[in-house]
Order: sequence, then structure tokens, then C-alpha cells
Amino acid sequence: MKTLEPSSVPISLYIHFPWCEKKCPYCDFNIETNKRDGDEEALLFAILKDLDDSTKYIGARKFTSLYFGGGTPSLISAKIIEKIISTLKDKELLQIDCEISFELNPKEVKKEYINDLVGIGINRVSIGIQSFDAKTLSSLERNHDACDSLNALQVISEMESVDTTIDLIYGVMGQDINSLKKDIEIFCSYDISHLSMYQLTIEPNTIFYKKELSLPDDTLIELMESEAKKILNANNISQYEVSSWSKDNKKSNHNMNYWMYGDYLGLGPGAHSKITQETSIKRMIKLKTVASYIKDPSKTIDTIITSESYDLDLAMNLLRIKGGLSLEELETSHIYIPDSFLEKRLKGIEEKLLESDGFRATQIGYKFLNDTINLFN
Ligand SMILES: C[S@@+](CC[C@H](N)C(=O)[O-])C[C@H]1O[C@@H](n2cnc3c(N)ncnc32)[C@H](O)[C@@H]1O
Ligand code: SF4
Repeated sequence: MKTLEPSSVPISLYIHFPWCEKKCPYCDFNIETNKRDGDEEALLFAILKDLDDSTKYIGARKFTSLYFGGGTPSLISAKIIEKIISTLKDKELLQIDCEISFELNPKEVKKEYINDLVGIGINRVSIGIQSFDAKTLSSLERNHDACDSLNALQVISEMESVDTTIDLIYGVMGQDINSLKKDIEIFCSYDISHLSMYQLTIEPNTIFYKKELSLPDDTLIELMESEAKKILNANNISQYEVSSWSKDNKKSNHNMNYWMYGDYLGLGPGAHSKITQETSIKRMIKLKTVASYIKDPSKTIDTIITSESYDLDLAMNLLRIKGGLSLEELETSHIYIPDSFLEKRLKGIEEKLLESDGFRATQIGYKFLNDTINLFN
């Protein structure tokens, strides 16, 4: 691979808080359910040590965004989060106007807690609503009910100083078109600028994987997607990524950095990083259990992306962006585009999976995104 310029690549920071009240039967994220007194402090200490040891990956760069994800970060006291943010500020590691996001489960969406979070610098919250429908929430075996979903939305819509996004899930057992439409309509009736809408996926290693589930068929899934699109578009909310919808200028900076092939540093158990090096891209994963991470926070399992795997790795990210990139954006961004990538792009244009103006999937190419991405294999 040619010599890359790590210092010109934007970098974001992800911090993982793994604890949840219970494990949802569809969830494949790195979580634990046994948080005890003192655990938060021990994890905080490890995260701060990990940050200190990561200077070589950050260089002279500042983080363009910071994301506290989980698990359930909202089970953590605001004091712990404050310590992390103030350390980052003291080290001058946060860019001015840094987007600082924080994930909450609906039961923890309380005025006082959010005020504390805003007071220490959080400017964007992401709430795992999943649905407002009792039957859908019960199929998902969530630990919150429809009242908690509505209450969370009401509380957050009254807080003006924070941007909000919510997560909804579709394609759930027993969910019909009207129940999904109602979920989307409730979301649209509040002034909230961002939505992540995920199709339920049945991941290996989850409880749902071992069960016989009666999931909606492909025709119903397509109908759900088109009806959701109609309602969202009518409310000036458009899709900008596979699962992401927003009003103008309200995209998630943090997620856009992933899809624009920026770098990211991940701290906390099982967190992923991507760091551009002189002649390759390094991907790293932290040790997964809380105990092992605390014992050795800098230890990672690494994969190196070299010329052979680079095209696919890049396409897998860029092609998720619905509007794609103009050729000018491709040229002026930090992104390294090898000749082999451009050749594969031409093949994609011939096969009508890619548009010829810029780098973007066609309508059909976006519908069959995996096939389009595989052009770059
Ligand atoms: C890792 S969770 C963290 C948020 C929070 N703990 C919660 O569940 O409310 C982020 C989001 O991923 C989505 N998600 C997790 N597993 C999923 C699956 N198997 N299929 C679709 N969406 C999933 C959910 O919408 C969830 O809100
Ligand atoms: S609360 Fe969120 S992170 Fe925790 S198990 Fe459920 S889906 Fe996964």
C-alpha cells in the first residue's frame, strides 16, 4: 500500500459501558449483567489508563466526536462520565464543538439525570425505545413497557439543550404494519431530529437464534420499509444510511465518521478501534470481559488491512451512505483510493449497481447492497 497520512485522518472516540439490567434475547453486543458496587470505579480507572496508553494512536489529533455506548451507559453515575470528559478536556483531546453522545435505556430517561449529563458536556442522547407498542416490546422481552417508551419521549422532548435520536426495531414477531406505522407516527409527532430504525436480526449466540420464531415474511418487511419511508419523508425526515434517518443537518457525526472511513479509538471491554498507519490500516479489539479488560486495558486482538483486503473494507463503509460521495469529495477527503478500487467501481457502473457521477449505489445497488459491496472483493 502507498504511504498513508495518519495525521490527516479524522479520529473519533468510543467508550463502552458493558452492563445491562438483563440480557435481551436478540442482543449480540458485549454485555454483562452482574454490576456490583465498586465496578464502575474500577472500570473508570482502566479506561483512563487505556487512554493514557493510546497516545501513539491519537498523535496530535483531537477527537471530532465522543460516544458513550453499551450495554447500558445510563446505569453509570454521571460522576464517572464527568471524570472521563474532564480528563479528555484537560488533555485538550476534544475538538471544539465535539459531538458528545450518550446511550440511555428508557427507564433511565429522567429529568435530573439528563440535566446532570448535559451539565458535564453531553450534547446528544440516544434512547433505545425499540417500540411504543406493548406487544412488540413483549415479543422483544424488553425490561420496559409502552408507558416507559412514551414517558421517555415526553421527558426528552422537553429538554431543549440536547439533540436526540431514538432507536426503533421493525420485523418483530407479531408486529403488523399498523403497529409499525403507529410507532413511526408517534416518533414524528415529537420534534426529534434523528431516528435509527433497525430490522430485527437474529444473530448466532443469542437466545432467539435457538428458538423457532415466527418472523414477518419478506413481503411484509418490504411493506414496512416503504410505509415507514412514506411517513418519515412526509415529515421531512430522510434516510442517509441503511438504518439512519434524520432532518437536515442532524446526521450523527460520530457514525458518519465510521462510514467515511475515519479513524476511531475504542476504550472499554470489547471495544473496536480502526487506526490508519503509514502503510496499512490496523483494526483492534479489546479483551471482552470486564475482568480481563480491567486487568490489561491495553491488550488487543489485531487485524491488519493491507492492499488485498483494503478495497472491500473501504467499500463496506462508504456504500452504506445513501447519498454517497461526489468525485470531488472523494478526491479532497483523507480517503486513499487505489487504482484497483477505481477499476472495480467501473465494473459496478457497467452492472448498474453504482452511479457514474461520484461514488454511490444506484437504487437497485442499494437494495442489494451486499452484492454491490462484493464487487470490491
Ligand atoms: C447495543 S444497543 C444499546 C442501547 C440500549 N442498551 C438499548 O438496548 O436500549 C443499540 C441498539 O441496537 C439495536 N439492536 C440490538 N440488537 C439488535 C438486533 N439483533 N436486531 C436489530 N437491532 C438490534 C437496538 O435498537 C438497540 O437500541
Ligand atoms: S439493553 Fe441494549 S445492550 Fe443491553 S442486552 Fe438489551 S439490547 Fe443489548
